[in-house]
Amino acid sequence: MKFFIDTANLAQIQEAYDMGVLDGVTTNPSLMAKEGIKGKENQLKHYVDICNIVKSDVSAEVIATDFEGMLREGEELAALNEHIVIKLPCTADGIKAVKYFSEKGMKTNCTLVFSLGQALLAAKAGATYVSPFVGRLDDVSESGVGLIKEIVDVYNYYGFATQVLAASIRHTRHIIDCLKVGADVATCPLSAIKGLLNHPLTDNGLKKFLEDYQKIG
Ligand code: E4P
Repeated sequence: MKFFIDTANLAQIQEAYDMGVLDGVTTNPSLMAKEGIKGKENQLKHYVDICNIVKSDVSAEVIATDFEGMLREGEELAALNEHIVIKLPCTADGIKAVKYFSEKGMKTNCTLVFSLGQALLAAKAGATYVSPFVGRLDDVSESGVGLIKEIVDVYNYYGFATQVLAASIRHTRHIIDCLKVGADVATCPLSAIKGLLNHPLTDNGLKKFLEDYQKIG
């Protein structure tokens, strides 16, 4: 399972990268707004800054909602750096744009996916990644992890190459549950990634080892 960090915060991206377990980054307009990255020029530069840290897949989302606009923005984003993955919403125009870019051999991430039917369209259009939103489904009493499992099973059954990128991960338990049902990628907040480290027996065990070493060191 690949680990992406779900943020536009450069310090957090650097911290996750320095841990040595980071495979990529996902961003979205809300995450860019959270960092206060104003204006198109600054936003494009910010994507390059992220790429320069991780040197692996960085999803950058188009703002346009029409096919032509998506193509224009997608081309512009992809030209920024070889690691940019064009992130497109799962709408009729978005699926058309996924198809267009996949035929050109460019990487795409089909986002805002909340159903198996949407995931089927993303895969048929040739998306590199499909992003079902786990936390947002849980928020409305549906099962986010249940959808991840359905998509993984169907993609495996039919041999689709699209990778299932579990998005909207809110906490460490989500990561474990997505891991168990076979998600290819989880994009997570830094806190959820660091949460995987936590175990009181590790802390207590280390404390005891160090105390005992004091007796002989
Ligand atoms: C990432 O690709 C998604 O845009 C993101 O995970 C959404 O997360 P949220 O539901 O916590 O906003």
